[in-house]
Amino acid sequence: MLKARKPQRRKRNLRARAEKLWKGKLGVAGSSFMRDPKKLFRELSVRGIELNQQKLVTVVEDSNDAVTVLDFDGNIKAWNKRAEKIFGYSESEALKMTIFNLVPPRLKKETLNLLHDIKSGVLVKPFETKRVAKDGCIVNIRVTVTRLIQNEKIVAVATTERDVTEYNRWLAAIKELPQRIILAQEKERSHISQEIHSDFGQSLMALKMFVCMSATEFVKENPELKLMFEKVKDQLTRIIDKARDLSHKLAPPSLKYIGLVEAIKKLVESAGYYNKLKVHFVHRKMGDVSFESKGIIIYRIVQESLNNISKHAKATETWVKAQCRNSQFSLEISDNGKGFDPAKISHTRCLGLDLMKEQAALIHGTLSIESLIGKGTKIKVIVPIKERSKK
Ligand SMILES: Nc1ncnc2c1ncn2[C@@H]1O[C@H](COP(=O)(O)OP(=O)(O)OP(=O)(O)O)[C@@H](O)[C@H]1O
Ligand SMILES: [Mg+2]
Repeated sequence: MLKARKPQRRKRNLRARAEKLWKGKLGVAGSSFMRDPKKLFRELSVRGIELNQQKLVTVVEDSNDAVTVLDFDGNIKAWNKRAEKIFGYSESEALKMTIFNLVPPRLKKETLNLLHDIKSGVLVKPFETKRVAKDGCIVNIRVTVTRLIQNEKIVAVATTERDVTEYNRWLAAIKELPQRIILAQEKERSHISQEIHSDFGQSLMALKMFVCMSATEFVKENPELKLMFEKVKDQLTRIIDKARDLSHKLAPPSLKYIGLVEAIKKLVESAGYYNKLKVHFVHRKMGDVSFESKGIIIYRIVQESLNNISKHAKATETWVKAQCRNSQFSLEISDNGKGFDPAKISHTRCLGLDLMKEQAALIHGTLSIESLIGKGTKIKVIVPIKERSKK
């Protein structure tokens, strides 16, 4: 007997729960569905979804989003389990509150206007905002608003609110990732450069001095070894030069000591010399600004652009133009080479251009590429910059 009655009792409980939600919590707004819930389920059935009232209650209650219902004074009329979890208020607490208990003071007027807009029929798109939880923490939420209509009149507002605090943090971290990689790369380059310069370079210098000193002694007694010692010294000098060159490429000391203009000039001259290119470097008003840490990034962009010209362009002439005007630094690196179609670049194989864009973004600038087959390539960079205060 008992067994036979159990499902019925369960059914009654569920029905009571459903009624509580639709009638009690939603108040007037829910009552039309209570009178004719079949209407809603009919619509859902048309779309092939078979739901009954209890299941719908469970959907709202177990939703992964906070679901709330408000009247137009902001009184909270419904509050599901997820809302309890996100904002920390139990259902019984929330039903005695208004939405304004959850809105940060500076957003109160905005929320009031929003309720007013919804009441007067404005369709509100999903938006992001902030709420204050019971423990005082700020929660970032994405809100979707639904108007609850009865007798062709908007009677309340239902909202689904998703906690996007973690998601936003994660998104910001992902966005910053390339720039953090660039900074880590610069740090690592500077470290390797110092190691090569001080440790490896100094050891090579010491070795060269030792060879020179020993050579004097040995050659006195064995003149036939003179040529061999000369060759060893030459070889050592070449290795030392290479090490110094590598160390400078990794972290150009010239930037610190001679400034960005001279450092770029050296880069351009060296590109011209090694690639048999006619190079032009023009600059205007570069002394009026302080580049600070942006200098190394601008230097890297010029370096990669010139690398690309030497590797791919088959150019005979290159122009580098740099100028500062109205708190803006602009840079153009162009060539008269074979050009390419930027839309056809493989972003998995080629990193240089993408990295340059990230480097420009890192210093709050923009980088654009103009290239046409047979017409050469132009890289344009714009960076906001602080002008030195004129005394
Ligand atoms: N100045 C240029 N002239 C002609 N083609 C160019 C020029 N700059 C870039 N390209 C083309 O664009 C492609 C992408 O350049 P990107 O610098 O991204 O990669 P990469 O130079 O091939 O390799 P890396 O990742 O080592 O820089 C090049 O492979 C080349 O085809
Ligand atoms: Mg490249």
